[in-house]
Amino acid sequence: MKILVTGGLGYIGSHVVVELQNEGFEVVIIDNLSNSSIDVLKGITAITKKQPIFEKLDLRDKALVIDFFNSHQDISGIIHFAASKAVGESVEKPLLYYENNLNPLIYILQELQYKASSYFIFSSSCTVYGQSDALPITESAPIKQAESPYGNTKQIGEEIIRDTCKASANINAIALRYFNPIGAHDSIKIGELPIGTPQNLVPFITQTAIGKREELSVFGNDYPTEDGTCIRDYIHVVDLAKAHVSALKRLIEGNNTQNFEVFNIGTGKGYSVLEVINAFEDVSGKTLNYKIVGRREGDVIAAYADTTKANSILGWKAKLSLKEALSAAWKWENK
Ligand code: NAD
Ligand code: WQD
Repeated sequence: MKILVTGGLGYIGSHVVVELQNEGFEVVIIDNLSNSSIDVLKGITAITKKQPIFEKLDLRDKALVIDFFNSHQDISGIIHFAASKAVGESVEKPLLYYENNLNPLIYILQELQYKASSYFIFSSSCTVYGQSDALPITESAPIKQAESPYGNTKQIGEEIIRDTCKASANINAIALRYFNPIGAHDSIKIGELPIGTPQNLVPFITQTAIGKREELSVFGNDYPTEDGTCIRDYIHVVDLAKAHVSALKRLIEGNNTQNFEVFNIGTGKGYSVLEVINAFEDVSGKTLNYKIVGRREGDVIAAYADTTKANSILGWKAKLSLKEALSAAWKWENK
């Protein structure tokens, strides 16, 4: 079966392409290389011994999207990663985020409306929950006012898919709400490539440990948690990638009970920032230079997933530990 992976040279997309090819799917990648490198294609090919088809294309160009689907009529499934993802940048440039995260989504769904049947998987985010009143967070937790334009694009994206699925029974879709993906493939041939200063904790930790950054700022230690720092659910990117294959198979096998479903994808365990630092120091043997600074605007105190739905319905469970993910991130940084 031929699967289109948009943003397939990006961090999560590249790991998903590997898992799809390992499972025998034929993969076509679309990426405009706005936040990735063509070298990732070599990494994927080296791991799987199979080169996916690659088309450099900007999905904001509707005519190109139409042409693409016309010339690839045998595509049966789409995993849609392509988007802009920097929360801070989305506050500065909201229209860029609304355009890039929503227009391609609409153009792709418009093409799927004409197909006899299609399977669609959307990269959503735990950010749609904001600070949930109850922990762990279940899929039925209320969606609160988004903290950023980026977060809003994920909320609106889910609504667009929900409405489209209501109107088009031929489209079967799943939104996966990722918690915090970290780590790299254990071959260390693909991993995260943050451009500029990393916004996320783990790449900032590894860049500090290797000497690219002077010190890590820990944003606040006065939160109502055990050690005062925020709690998140850090999931190994390879576990996260495998969840996409499980979701896709659910749709292909027709096991979905509604034509739009939503699943949390996390480990179910929360770790504080200081716990992550300690675990990193353990696996790397390095002492991390860090200091406590003020809170970062928009941070929620704690977020970790209730993964019961994904575990029981998708038959998927995160298997890799925080230390395994940090060890892979550290090897990747060294490479
Ligand atoms: P990434 O930036 O590494 O990958 C996105 C890829 O899409 C990049 O290769 C980029 O070049 C490409 N792209 C962007 N706009 C495009 C366009 N208009 N046309 C074609 N290609 C385009 O990001 P990622 O971390 O792999 O995230 C993938 C998806 O998962 C995104 O939708 C993101 O919002 C979502 N997500 C990420 C996280 C995270 O922490 N990384 C968490 C939750 C959800
Ligand atoms: C984790 C923890 C920080 C950096 C973001 C997006 C979210 C989703 C996942 C896409 C927090 C602390 C961080 C640093 C620190 N992405 N931290 N010093 O904020 O949970 O979520 O990525 O959908 O939308 O907002 O992840 O890695 O930025 O932060 O102390 O230099 O580490 O305060 O507690 P976050 P993160």
